[in-house]
Amino acid sequence: MLVMLRSTYEDMSREAANIVAERLRRKPDMVLGLATGSTPLGMYRELIRMHIEEGLDFSKVTTFNLDEYVGLPPSHDQSYHYFMKEALFDHINLNPSRVHVPMGMAPDVEAICEWYEERIRQAGGIDLQILGIGSNGHIAFNEPGSSLGSRTRIKTLTERTIRDNARFFANKEEVPHLAITMGIGTIMEAGELIILANGEKKADAVKASVEGPITAMMPASIVQMHRKAYFIVDETAASKLSPDMLEELTGRPNGQPAMHS
Ligand code: PGA
Repeated sequence: MLVMLRSTYEDMSREAANIVAERLRRKPDMVLGLATGSTPLGMYRELIRMHIEEGLDFSKVTTFNLDEYVGLPPSHDQSYHYFMKEALFDHINLNPSRVHVPMGMAPDVEAICEWYEERIRQAGGIDLQILGIGSNGHIAFNEPGSSLGSRTRIKTLTERTIRDNARFFANKEEVPHLAITMGIGTIMEAGELIILANGEKKADAVKASVEGPITAMMPASIVQMHRKAYFIVDETAASKLSPDMLEELTGRPNGQPAMHS
């Protein structure tokens, strides 16, 4: 795992978009794993800009999203289907037949989970997976305590995640309690990982994931075991890293004064 410190959210987002674009130019039919949440929005904006201004071509790309709420139809403005359409899909030239988001309305959720794993296998596996991190250290909806070898399955959201996500809903009661999520084992099989974190709210989770022991209670800590993982953080998300780690990342004692971007 490589930790990359960038000054601002915009710098973090640009760095991530540059990695995606470089891999895409090298392999136009790449399999790209996507994430929802506020964190990757800046990266998506930059990819859209590259598509419009530089002709970055997504026509042969296959995508798999990490997760979806159970019980929300794709037309619901808080479903992850809807989110992805607004944030990315409607603005680039993806082929809709190669786009995958778990079906939260499926009558047989277990069958959908198995099918999702099978589709990823048939596509040849995920080349590059984008991840955010929850303030409790979750990746996708793999909450603390999730098995580190888990596969795509249905999960119950923790109270903290429901609270974190309530800001997007009219009230907390409307936040679904169940989600379909790729498992940690599924995520770890991706060829490369980009994990993004910005803001003070993520500083504890970043410290625990980067410096702490690998534990199911901090699911993002498993990323330490991935040989090609890029953990890209902005200054505030990195603010609780140990002085030694900051010095290592910035080349300056205590990470001061300026952190290069
Ligand atoms: P956020 O969520 O990007 O909205 O902070 C990240 C996550 O929960 O994985």
